[in-house]
Amino acid sequence: MKITILNGSPRKENTAAMVNAFAEGAKEAGHEVEILHVGKMKIAGCMGCEYCHTKGEGKCIQKDDMEKVIPAYLDCDMIVYASPVYYFDMTAQLQAAIQRVYCIGKPPKAKKAALLLSSGSPDTGTGAVEAYKNMIGYMDMENAGVYALAGAENKSAEKLAQIRDWAKAL
Ligand SMILES: Cc1cc2nc3c(=O)[nH]c(=O)nc-3n(C[C@H](O)[C@H](O)[C@H](O)COP(=O)(O)O)c2cc1C
Repeated sequence: MKITILNGSPRKENTAAMVNAFAEGAKEAGHEVEILHVGKMKIAGCMGCEYCHTKGEGKCIQKDDMEKVIPAYLDCDMIVYASPVYYFDMTAQLQAAIQRVYCIGKPPKAKKAALLLSSGSPDTGTGAVEAYKNMIGYMDMENAGVYALAGAENKSAEKLAQIRDWAKAL
């Protein structure tokens, strides 16, 4: 499978460790993995202007780093959404990358999705998980799993090894 990981963290720390563990496992299993650090990119929110669905022939009127994400959306078989929990939700950067898919509609080939969440406290990501499940259902993707780490778990080699093994078994 061709797997695209959208890392919504602006930092290379806890979420990045989960992303790297997932990528290592998936690569070991022979999958092709691309990590897009959308948390560090400049991606504006969708303006809802409908240019893409009228004059734009599926292209967004906004020219920003989303141009690096759209080709991955068009080509991948699985999308892994990864984010720290910010105020009980995914980061604004990841949400922008999710919502700007509007210009192409649904990712045409992606049939599987997963969610990696890192938070300071446990159980603060329930809203993000709910939004993720609704969103992938709408996109016709099957949930391959949700993995959430909180507090000290973020630095646990054992927990990261579990993520690696999970990705290896995909
Ligand atoms: C702006 C901001 C908002 C946050 N909101 C929450 C929150 O609602 N719940 C929580 O448990 N942790 C919250 N945190 C803590 C992060 O989720 C946590 O430190 C996470 O491991 C950071 O991941 P990272 O190293 O990939 O940035 C917040 C951190 C920041 C910077």
